[in-house]
Amino acid sequence: MYTCGIDVGSVSAEAVILNRQDGKFEIVAYIITPTGGDSKEAATNVFNRALEKSGLGASDMSSVVATGYGRLNIPFATKNITEISCHARGVVHYFPDIKTVIDIGGQDSKVIKLDSKGNPIDFLMNDKCAAGTGRFLEVMARALDIDIRDFAKIFAGTSQKVDISSTCTVFAESEIVSLIGHGVAKNSIVKGLVYSITGRIISMVERVGLEGPVCMTGGVAKNLAVVSALEERLNLKIKVPEEPQITGALGAALLGYPKE
Ligand SMILES: Nc1ncnc2c1ncn2[C@@H]1O[C@H](COP(=O)(O)OP(=O)(O)OP(=O)(O)O)[C@@H](O)[C@H]1O
Ligand SMILES: [Mg+2]
Repeated sequence: MYTCGIDVGSVSAEAVILNRQDGKFEIVAYIITPTGGDSKEAATNVFNRALEKSGLGASDMSSVVATGYGRLNIPFATKNITEISCHARGVVHYFPDIKTVIDIGGQDSKVIKLDSKGNPIDFLMNDKCAAGTGRFLEVMARALDIDIRDFAKIFAGTSQKVDISSTCTVFAESEIVSLIGHGVAKNSIVKGLVYSITGRIISMVERVGLEGPVCMTGGVAKNLAVVSALEERLNLKIKVPEEPQITGALGAALLGYPKE
């Protein structure tokens, strides 16, 4: 029995095709692509590409579950479910004992608290301001002319950090441009930026109440600079799924199955 989960986020869209056989789940195919300006088109594109990759057809899917900010605009979805439930379900698939999920995407950041059965019981979401999100890091990487994928290497290899005092993305960007103009080393700006976003995430975690084990999902979980800084500040190890960016779509596909 196959299901498909589709997560249309502000930055990226994902599709996961899942098979369940003898009570075991297997990811048959997945696709990650930029969302672009048309969320319906992005959903159709990831769905078709995932089908093609799996060698299956749309009629083989017993359900297509949509999540993410674009979830209400997918005509072929059979159901839509919030990102909170989908990320929680996706995380529990890999790590059944997780108590706190930190999902940092392009446009919002969420901290989700789970009970001992993996059900979401509380959450906090920052969706009003880009600071503390992947978009913040993208804007800063552009201003610095550094590939965001190099942040981890720079973070690990740099001891000095420059404090970024602006809390707003727009002001922080001007601050960085001015720091570069004053000849401040770009690597120490990167270090300062990572601690700045980490500080925002930690204040959300504290408001929800830290309880381990902790898992991080979303595209920013691929930024090992952020993961390391969070581990350092929270003083614990953070679990990250093999491909953290598909966690929402995977959770959606899992929730497409009837309860056993
Ligand atoms: N390889 C990578 N290395 C570092 N960071 C990455 C990488 N890939 C993606 N990112 C970060 O992940 C962010 C996008 O995350 P994600 O795909 O989870 O967002 P989204 O689900 O579309 O957004 P939202 O959930 O807020 O609507 C980017 O803004 C970028 O900062
Ligand atoms: Mg997302």
